[in-house]
Amino acid sequence: MNVNKVLTKDYEKRTLGEHGKNKPNTNPIQTQYKANSKPIQTQNEPNQTQFQAKCTLSKPFLFFTFLCPGYNLAMQTWTIQKLLNWITEHFTDKGIDSPRLSAELLLSHVLTMERIELYTQFDKPVVKDQRDRLHDLVKRAGRHEPICYLTGRTEFYSLQLEVCPDCMIPRPETELLVERAIEFLRSRAGTQFVCDLCTGCGCIAVAIAKNSPDARIIATDISDAALNVAAKNIEKYQLKDRIRLLCGDLFEPLVPQLDVDKFDLIVCNPPYVSAAEFEKLDKSVKDYEPKLALFAGDDGLNIYRRVIEKAAQFLKPDAALMLEIGFTQGPAIKELLEQAGAFAEIKIEKDLRDNDRIAAAIKISS
Ligand SMILES: C[S@@+](CC[C@H](N)C(=O)[O-])C[C@H]1O[C@@H](n2cnc3c(N)ncnc32)[C@H](O)[C@@H]1O
Repeated sequence: MNVNKVLTKDYEKRTLGEHGKNKPNTNPIQTQYKANSKPIQTQNEPNQTQFQAKCTLSKPFLFFTFLCPGYNLAMQTWTIQKLLNWITEHFTDKGIDSPRLSAELLLSHVLTMERIELYTQFDKPVVKDQRDRLHDLVKRAGRHEPICYLTGRTEFYSLQLEVCPDCMIPRPETELLVERAIEFLRSRAGTQFVCDLCTGCGCIAVAIAKNSPDARIIATDISDAALNVAAKNIEKYQLKDRIRLLCGDLFEPLVPQLDVDKFDLIVCNPPYVSAAEFEKLDKSVKDYEPKLALFAGDDGLNIYRRVIEKAAQFLKPDAALMLEIGFTQGPAIKELLEQAGAFAEIKIEKDLRDNDRIAAAIKISS
């Protein structure tokens, strides 16, 4: 994962259509992940000016009454609409990405509502218990803790997945890898064996399994804690019979597997942030997401070297290796694949922002 990916602003992609099929706004370097999906706009939603015109008390005073619920001197009735507006403003002041969307996600999480329901119940008062929970989350979000960790979930490839600080938050760019993997598997008949290296919360494995009924997947990760999250996501989508989790360093846990020793497809979204990039990561990424999921040595290529060196021995002839890559890494990865001498049809594919995003290659028949 490189700066451009680790840090991508997911919700911008959602404005481009499902799985990013349409042409995006171009924004080559994204520096921070944004929450998953665009803010809901409704006719009922007042704009900021309308809202401010309704406020008779000063902004700092009202803010104080929310952030210090014991001191509700203004005797405010905190409705969904009021809270949404205040939190949005607070997040804007704090420089939080997608402030309105982030406010919606936190509020709908605390109220256990769908986001759209916030807008159909704008005038509903929010009770003190809920406000107390909300104000804790708002404070943490204000310190740049990712919204997905605060709510414990995210959306990936139209799936609702559990996440926590033990695993990286899946990025929308990774959906392109899933898309290509599914296409490749559809072109092959019969049961297909897939290996998902560095599975994290299991997003790639779950998305492939949901969309490729004949796929049998082994997913590995060196982090036991991340695999616990993957297990919950696999369970949620009832894929336990088709996805097997193994803990260990890249291919290492596969060696004793006697049932599958060659795969039709290996996919991998490894850590790919270089030392220089790591220093520049946004606070929400650097301080909260696991370093193990981000950092990959001085040049960010450590894991790729090891995967590419070993992959061919685990692939059937004409099987594919597909890697997510950082936007600066295309030429280096292409060279690594060429030097391995085991691959043909080596391709680097760009994402919707015109950045190198995927490397794919076919194992040469021997
Ligand atoms: C960039 S995250 C990707 C997670 C998930 N596949 C996704 O796309 O969101 C990289 C994952 O690789 C795992 N990892 C790091 N080094 C590893 C290694 N040597 N062997 C296996 N997994 C590793 C981390 O624990 C982390 O879950």
